[in-house]
Amino acid sequence: MKFTSPGQHKSVEAFRAHLQSIDPKLDCASELSGAEGPLGAPCTIGDKTIGNRFAIHPMEGWDGTARGLPSDHTLRRWRRFGSSGAKLIWGGEAFAVQEDGRANAGQLYLNPRADVKGALDRLLGEIFEGHAEIGEKPDDLLVGLQLTHSGRFSRPGHLFKPRIAGHNPALDKKFGIPADFPILTDGELEAIGENYVAAAKLAWQVGFEFVDVKACHGYLMHELLGAKSRPGPYGGRFENRTKLFRRVVDDIRATCPGLSIGVRVSIADVIPFTANPRTGVGEPIEWKGEPFDHGFGIDADDPTTFDLEEPLTFLGFLRDLGIELVNLSIGSPYYCPHLQRPAAYPPSDGYLPPHDPLADVAEHLLVTRACKAAFPELLLVGSGYTYLQDWLAHVAEYEVGAKHVDFVGLGRMTLSYPSFPHDVLSGKPLQRKGVCRTFSDCTTAPRNGMISGCYPLDVYYRALPEYVQLQDIKKARRRQ
Ligand SMILES: Cc1cc2nc3c(=O)[nH]c(=O)nc-3n(C[C@H](O)[C@H](O)[C@H](O)COP(=O)(O)O)c2cc1C
Repeated sequence: MKFTSPGQHKSVEAFRAHLQSIDPKLDCASELSGAEGPLGAPCTIGDKTIGNRFAIHPMEGWDGTARGLPSDHTLRRWRRFGSSGAKLIWGGEAFAVQEDGRANAGQLYLNPRADVKGALDRLLGEIFEGHAEIGEKPDDLLVGLQLTHSGRFSRPGHLFKPRIAGHNPALDKKFGIPADFPILTDGELEAIGENYVAAAKLAWQVGFEFVDVKACHGYLMHELLGAKSRPGPYGGRFENRTKLFRRVVDDIRATCPGLSIGVRVSIADVIPFTANPRTGVGEPIEWKGEPFDHGFGIDADDPTTFDLEEPLTFLGFLRDLGIELVNLSIGSPYYCPHLQRPAAYPPSDGYLPPHDPLADVAEHLLVTRACKAAFPELLLVGSGYTYLQDWLAHVAEYEVGAKHVDFVGLGRMTLSYPSFPHDVLSGKPLQRKGVCRTFSDCTTAPRNGMISGCYPLDVYYRALPEYVQLQDIKKARRRQ
């Protein structure tokens, strides 16, 4: 399908017309107001002030050492998070709480046989040094660590080694999981919960100010939220599906006084998509017949659309638990990448966009607005902004200014153009050559066993042998 990418619009008016053709409720600022405007306004949480409204999303690089420690690539990435000028560093990257819960062999993890505390200390140090490099003070910078167990998408070595919380016939079908595949026992879930607490303790000792008990993208805690068919105390009704999460939160609080807790959650979801074998375009997998009573935030009667009823209940549950920081994502990069990270060009395990990717950005914006309207007291970080390209800051300024969201999270843009927040806030012109054009190489490379990074635009990755390897893989795919 043909669509105009945001970067092709030469004026803000032309971009706005495109945006509003998707949904008239959407809008963008006509001009940017830098640090004086909404994006430069501080925000308080407890007695902490966060200096501006940019957040850096967790962005892993598949580049840790075999022992789960940061490599030079990892340290460089964290330094660049710090020098971005964003005052909220949401998690750095997914840090697995145990070895078999890693999503890839290059993921950082709680390795009891390695100096993980020293590694976390170095990572945090990189953030602060990067921040100091651009002349920023650390007082109004908030840094957290994202804790994860990859659950169904665990792949600690070369092969997937799923650890599932419950069966989901659509996901089982897409990923070849037999109906009698064993689910994690209650005891195994509780042991995993204890590792979350152990990892949080290290983060707290090192000086991270919050941990993210990650519940997004199809990983374990997210799968549990939707484990309606799981029997026993951790499945079925909402109270059960949130029990492990609550237990982890309570235990972290008891063990790490003063450590804040945040949650990155896939607040809405859809049935898995797959490439049409003839056209390569993404389409929902075939689902006929009875209501789809699986997952979290999926409409059972039409599983290609969202149902926000339970997600809003979950946000109320977070508020009642005293959790204020929530980072909203949608879906999963494994089964609906067009929605989780809208892109013009699909990754190698993806499919051609089923529609204008701007419509998927709109889903993020509108769902976030609905959550903020329902829970103005929560501090919400929005996702899915990178595809906006040259107009990202204009949309960000509008959304924050209208109080539809508290922080604008940056994912892929951080890899191609790490100083984006600093440039926007200091009123510098946009460096167009740094703007992420969503080629998806940062996802294609790791899907093919290589480290991630912005191969098209970051000269550091262009100079690596992996760059040549990636071009060969892409050429071979085009010939298919
Ligand atoms: C290379 C890469 C690494 C990512 N790593 C993580 C991660 O560690 N944890 C996480 O929650 N999301 C991760 N994400 C998802 C991003 O944080 C973000 O949600 C997504 O890219 C959409 O935001 P964007 O449009 O600004 O890129 C990753 C995405 C990419 C492309």
